Amino acid sequence: MSDLELNLKNAQKEVDKTIKSLLPSGKGLEKKLFEAINYSILSSGKRIRPYLVIQSSKLFDVDQKNALRVASSIEMIHAYSLIHDDLPSMDNDFLRRGLPTTHRKYNEATAILAGDSLLTLSFEILSDNLTHNDSKIRCELIYELARAAGANGMVAGQMMDLEAENKKLSIGVITRIQRLKTGALIAFSCNAGAILGRAEKKYKFALQGYAHDIGLAYQIRDDLLDVTSTTKKLGKKVNKDKKIGKKNFVSILGKERAKKQLEILGNQAIEHLEVFDSRADMLREIARFIVERNK
Ligand code: IPE
Ligand code: IPE
Ligand code: MG
Ligand code: MG
Ligand code: MG
Repeated sequence: MSDLELNLKNAQKEVDKTIKSLLPSGKGLEKKLFEAINYSILSSGKRIRPYLVIQSSKLFDVDQKNALRVASSIEMIHAYSLIHDDLPSMDNDFLRRGLPTTHRKYNEATAILAGDSLLTLSFEILSDNLTHNDSKIRCELIYELARAAGANGMVAGQMMDLEAENKKLSIGVITRIQRLKTGALIAFSCNAGAILGRAEKKYKFALQGYAHDIGLAYQIRDDLLDVTSTTKKLGKKVNKDKKIGKKNFVSILGKERAKKQLEILGNQAIEHLEVFDSRADMLREIARFIVERNK
């Protein structure tokens, strides 16, 4: 196992412990909601967004306890986005992280409500004093996450992704879709460390450049894996994008050119980190992982 994989595994454990401690529970009539929330968020995802929060926080000596709470809140938004992404009215998927999707395991209403709960819980966590004792920093985190997740970010990208199905679109439009639907949450994850650590502008800009490139790269790799991997390896159905007429770098440029683009983005991302010393090495590793990942 590489250093990165080992570190990622350890971070996963820490993040999951924090998430568990923050999830609602109870025995009342709403018990099924709590079960569905647990089921969806604690399944075996890579936790790459939380890991980006942790690593960007390390650059600025942020207290790990604060970073873990922000890491948990971004994973909650991500988990909600996946639950809704899989719904019959969206991508209509049956398998996620090797398990039945939330609406398949429970039902559609429960899945929608579990997603709603995770979305709102995420902001509840950020607003708590325990996330940071400076209310200005908490407000900045809330503002940036709201922008990244909502109708100026991920949700807009998801809308465009659905509208784009079976349409002829330029690579510029496709780039915008990918940057919004996937890049925005990844960008927030990198930015979070800089916000928590009150980073200087030059460091914030460097991280922004890095995030911009890995965000797009992340989705290109996802789209490549859809045509090159197997359902067993990925834990989600493959060869689905073409079938439903999804528009992405692979369907427009073809596998080889998409791969080249992915490599360019990975290298470019690393170049943005030049202002940092070896403390950014793990972020450099993450960029490589994103380009090469098989899962
Ligand atoms: C899948 O995200 C959806 C995309 C935005 C590409 P991940 O590949 O990070 O999924 P998990 O969290 O590891 O399951
Ligand atoms: C999902 O993109 C992006 C989200 C905002 C959830 P995909 O639809 O390609 O993700 P998968 O392949 O279902 O994980
Ligand atoms: Mg989708
Ligand atoms: Mg999908
Ligand atoms: Mg996909």
